[in-house]
Amino acid sequence: MQKKKYTVVANWKMNPETLSKAQELSKGVEKGLKKNSNTKVILCAPSVFLPILTVKKSKMISWGAQNMHWEKQGPYTGEISSKMVVGSGATYVILGHSERRALSETSDMVNKKILAALKSGLTPIVCIGERERDPQSNYLTTLKQQVIETFQKLPKASLKKIIVTYEPVWAISSHQVRPATPEESTEMVIFIKKILADMYGQQIVAGINFLYGGSVNPEDALSFIVHGNVSGLLVGHASLKAKTFLQIINSMPQN
Ligand code: PGA
Repeated sequence: MQKKKYTVVANWKMNPETLSKAQELSKGVEKGLKKNSNTKVILCAPSVFLPILTVKKSKMISWGAQNMHWEKQGPYTGEISSKMVVGSGATYVILGHSERRALSETSDMVNKKILAALKSGLTPIVCIGERERDPQSNYLTTLKQQVIETFQKLPKASLKKIIVTYEPVWAISSHQVRPATPEESTEMVIFIKKILADMYGQQIVAGINFLYGGSVNPEDALSFIVHGNVSGLLVGHASLKAKTFLQIINSMPQN
C-alpha cells in the first residue's frame, strides 16, 4: 500500500466517559472518511477501551495508546507494557505527552519507553515542547535539553519509524496562553530537526515524520500543513466530536 502523505492523530486523553460513547465516536469518524484519502488517521483512545474498539478491523483507521511503561512486566501498579499495548490491537503509542511529563515523567523515562515501543513493533508518537516562552529565550535551551535526552542513544535505523510531534504546552487548549502560529511551528521544527541532525545526521532526520499539536481546529489545520513545516497534526479536544475531527482530516491537501 502506498504511504499516506499526511497523518492526523486524535488524542482522546481521558475521554469519552464510556465505552459506548467511544464506539459511537470512532464509528462516526470512520463513516465520514473518504476512500483513497492520502491522510492516515490514528485514534489514540484510553487503553481500557482499545481491545474492544479494535475488534472490528478497519483499513481506514489505526489505533494508538496514550502511554506505556518501558519494563516488560513487574510490580508497576497501574502501568501497562508495550506487549499489552500490542495485545490491545494498537499499533501506535503516544509517548512523552506534556500531561504525562507534568506527572513527573522525565525525558530519560520517555527515552526508555521509545526503545521499548520500537522493540515491540509499535510506532511511537513522541511529544516535545516547551512549557512556556520567556522573553530571554531560555526556553530554547530547555527544549534542546529535552530533545537530546528524549532521543538519546536510539538505534539509527529505527529513527524513521518514530513520529515526532512539536507541541508547545502553552498552546494546548487546556493550558492555553495563546494559540501558536504555523510560523512558530516552522521555526521550532527546524530547531528540533537541527538538534536531531547533530545527533544522528541530516539524512536520518529527513526520513522522520513531524507533526504539530496544540489547539488544532478545523480553521487552522490546513495552515499548519501548508506553513508549519509538518506533515500532520495531533489533535486533542477537537477530536472528540466526529464532525469537527472529520473537518480537520478532510482539510488536508488532496495531492
Ligand atoms: P488540544 O490538545 O488539541 O486540545 O490543545 C492537544 C494535545 O494535548 O495533544
